[in-house]
Order: sequence, then C-alpha cells, then structure tokens
Amino acid sequence: MRAGIPAGGDAYVLHPTAPSVEEYVRLRAVSGLSPRTPEQAGPAVANSWAFCHVRDAAGQAVAMGRILGDGGWYFHVADIATDPAHQRRGLGRRVMTWLLAQVDERAPADPYVTLMADEPGRPLYRSLGFVETAPHSLGMVLRR
Ligand SMILES: CC(C)(COP(=O)(O)OP(=O)(O)OC[C@H]1O[C@@H](n2cnc3c(N)ncnc32)[C@H](O)[C@@H]1OP(=O)(O)O)[C@@H](O)C(=O)NCCC(=O)NCCS
Repeated sequence: MRAGIPAGGDAYVLHPTAPSVEEYVRLRAVSGLSPRTPEQAGPAVANSWAFCHVRDAAGQAVAMGRILGDGGWYFHVADIATDPAHQRRGLGRRVMTWLLAQVDERAPADPYVTLMADEPGRPLYRSLGFVETAPHSLGMVLRR
C-alpha cells in the first residue's frame, strides 16, 4: 500500500486504496447500507476503478468510497459510507473530493459520473455539483 495521504490537520489519514474485505463489510453495515457478504465484498474491493478509505488514529477504517468505471467515459460512484461515530467531520467530503480528483486526473475529457443518491448523501453530492437527472432519466434497479 502506498503511504497514506494526510487528510487534513487531524488524526485521520486518507489511503488511496480499498479497505480490507472485513472492513468493507463492516463499514457498509454500521453506516446503514444494505449488508453484503464477504463473497460479494471480495470482487468489490479488488475490481473498482478507484477506491479510497480513511483510517482514524487507532488505524481503524472509518470511511470509504469507490468508483466503478470503464476508464473511458462512464464512472459510477458507490459505497460512500462513514462510520456513524465519525460522521460530520468532513470525511465523506474528503472521500468524494479524492474520488472526483481521480476522474479529473485520469479520465479522458467529458466523463459521465453517476451515482444513486440515498437521502443522507444528497446534500454532499449537491454541494459537489451533482444534479438530479429526473424526469429526463430515472434511476432503475433490477433485483434477482
Ligand atoms: C453520507 C455520508 C457518507 C456523509 O459522511 P460524513 O463523513 O458525515 O460527511 P461530511 O462530514 O463530509 O459532511 C458532508 C456534507 O454532508 C452533509 N451532511 C452530512 N451529514 C449530515 C446530516 N446528518 N444531516 C444533514 N446533512 C449532513 C452536509 O451538507 C455536509 O456538508 P458540510 O461539510 O457543509 O457540513 C454519511 O452520512 C453516511 O455514511 N451515511 C450512511 C450511508 C449512506 O447513506 N451513504 C450514501 C449512499 S448514496
């Protein structure tokens, strides 16, 4: 793992890598996202286009986020989650800012960056420039 990038003048450190499978599963669960199995989490942490996470002073993974993408033009933000014990300290914003900087640095011009905005994340996403696509385009999901 590359050395962590200091995430501000505090004890949190942003790492430009995925958390472990166990940490990914834990962070989704404690933040209230739908629970995922280790079998699902393994490919998730291995195959994302960009992934970062934040550790606290004790070394615990307390925030994360990732982008799924083809590297050409289509990028999808997912798994934006902060441990509730560490929310409202700017970690979600740091994760999103880092992910979007990756798009700026590594993607060709005119990227299409999407996400499914659960209610807790909407103020953050709006503040970063995301706009709703409805009614022109509606998010849809298929569950099997
Ligand atoms: C969304 C989430 C990741 C934000 O994480 P966070 O580390 O608390 O975010 P930040 O401290 O960087 O706050 C970012 C912005 O989000 C908004 N925000 C965060 N928590 C909020 C709350 N409880 N109520 C209202 N707005 C809130 C604020 O606009 C804040 O901007 P500010 O910096 O001007 O205060 C976190 O609330 C979370 O994990 N929620 C549960 C999982 C989830 O729903 N994720 C989104 C999936 S689409």
